[in-house]
Amino acid sequence: MSTLSHKNPPPPCAIVIFGANGDLTKRLIVPALYNLARTGLLPSRLALVGVGHNDKTSEQWRDGLREFLEQMLSKTEQAIDESLWKALSQNMIFLKGDFEKPETYKTLDGLLGKIDKDVGLGGNVLFYLATADRFFAPIAGKLGEAGLVKDDKGFRRVIVEKPFGHDLQSARDLNAYLLNYLKEDQIYRIDHFLGKETVQNIMALRFANGLFEPIWNRDRIDHVQITVAESIGIEGRGNFYEKTGALRDMVPNHLFQLVAMTAMEPPVSFDAEDIRAKKAELFKAMHTLAMTDVVRGQYDTGTVQGEPVAAYRREPNVSPDSNIETYVAMRLKIDNWRWAGVPFYLRTGKRLNIRSSEIAIRFKQAPHALFRDTPVEELDADWLILRIQPDEGIRLRFNAKRPGPAMTLESVSMRFNYKDYFHQAPAVGYETLIYDCLIGDATLFQRADQVEAAWALVEPVLKGWHDTHPRHFPNYAAGSEGPSAANDLLAKDGRSWRDIRILGGK
Ligand code: BG6
Repeated sequence: MSTLSHKNPPPPCAIVIFGANGDLTKRLIVPALYNLARTGLLPSRLALVGVGHNDKTSEQWRDGLREFLEQMLSKTEQAIDESLWKALSQNMIFLKGDFEKPETYKTLDGLLGKIDKDVGLGGNVLFYLATADRFFAPIAGKLGEAGLVKDDKGFRRVIVEKPFGHDLQSARDLNAYLLNYLKEDQIYRIDHFLGKETVQNIMALRFANGLFEPIWNRDRIDHVQITVAESIGIEGRGNFYEKTGALRDMVPNHLFQLVAMTAMEPPVSFDAEDIRAKKAELFKAMHTLAMTDVVRGQYDTGTVQGEPVAAYRREPNVSPDSNIETYVAMRLKIDNWRWAGVPFYLRTGKRLNIRSSEIAIRFKQAPHALFRDTPVEELDADWLILRIQPDEGIRLRFNAKRPGPAMTLESVSMRFNYKDYFHQAPAVGYETLIYDCLIGDATLFQRADQVEAAWALVEPVLKGWHDTHPRHFPNYAAGSEGPSAANDLLAKDGRSWRDIRILGGK
């Protein structure tokens, strides 16, 4: 995993983006490249080739991306830096082509050969599959058949976006298909949560400090709560969401990656393979989910941050009697020496009352009621809270004596906020991921076995939910904390969720 501040630019290369006109390209990939240019981490010689279906000239493609970038920058009152834009855009070429036709790849081959000769890229090419997932296999296959991923002259790597499969079988099939054409070390499966600074910081917190690791286990930790709460709805993605739902969309990828970062054993080094091996071990130790370990929900009409919003079933391209879940909560068990008996509770949902993601670690209660007026069961437990977004930082909550003659206690917080300590370079969250791929560091990318193991863990629930209709859908109001059944899940264990409304606060 790279720390961008002490790095050199990657070697010269071409980046070929399939899905050149898509949202991902304009919102994330191009702005991330611009930010890399800002920090001097763009390859010194670079060509950007966009492949898309539309009729467009290279100038139109470039101007459209520039316009979008300008709009983005203007939100933070910045103007585009001409020298950075020049570094990024000097070899920007749009290729109109059908992703499924061999001619596209033939033309691409010729084009890459010419650019390589003109610009001097050493044969290095990164193919970025920023398309709908149904194109991942056809594009990889066609690249393979056209001989475009042979890495005898320079590197040839492929970034595959999410979703990687929609269940265990389809993930296995996709992996097997890709491996017909590519070697595992050429495939970079993105989970954009691993591009978030605060997620990478979990490793620093755990392994760069002597303080935490000795208490990071079943002796001291009572349970862990991982929350990814979103106030947005499905943002016009009805077609996608109807086939996906909250479980597929967020759990085997983003939430499980947060579990892995929190719970994996210390690796012997920060080499990609050492870290990936530890994550794979952790996935092996996780119990496959049972139906009694999960709760699903779907939002009804409601009010989010003062605005009335429609029910999920009223969203465009959503069936009026849809049974798709927009919320999921679960209890995960990890069977190893470190975590046996320590449940990990996970929850994520759309249209909740707040946007907030965090990992909250609850420590065991003080064993002895030393304070006569504060029985031990009334003492707040200690919490370590890793805030992922929007206010990135770390909080430690513990009990302190309230000033005055009486010995009364109150739970207080120590806070570390990223923004108070570090100058944070503008980032969209893809900078490290793209840079790492360009230098061939796969630490933050998922290996085939990890992706399959994650799908295997949720597979019984996908099947179970497919076979049984949910009762009482919709079962939570937009703008609420989610369905009450999620509270019951913890109540069965004598526990409760941290109040979602104070997630950011305390
Ligand atoms: C995506 C999901 O992978 O992650 C979206 O498809 C979700 O539904 C998004 O909103 C959340 O990511 P972030 O970075 O905005 O928190």
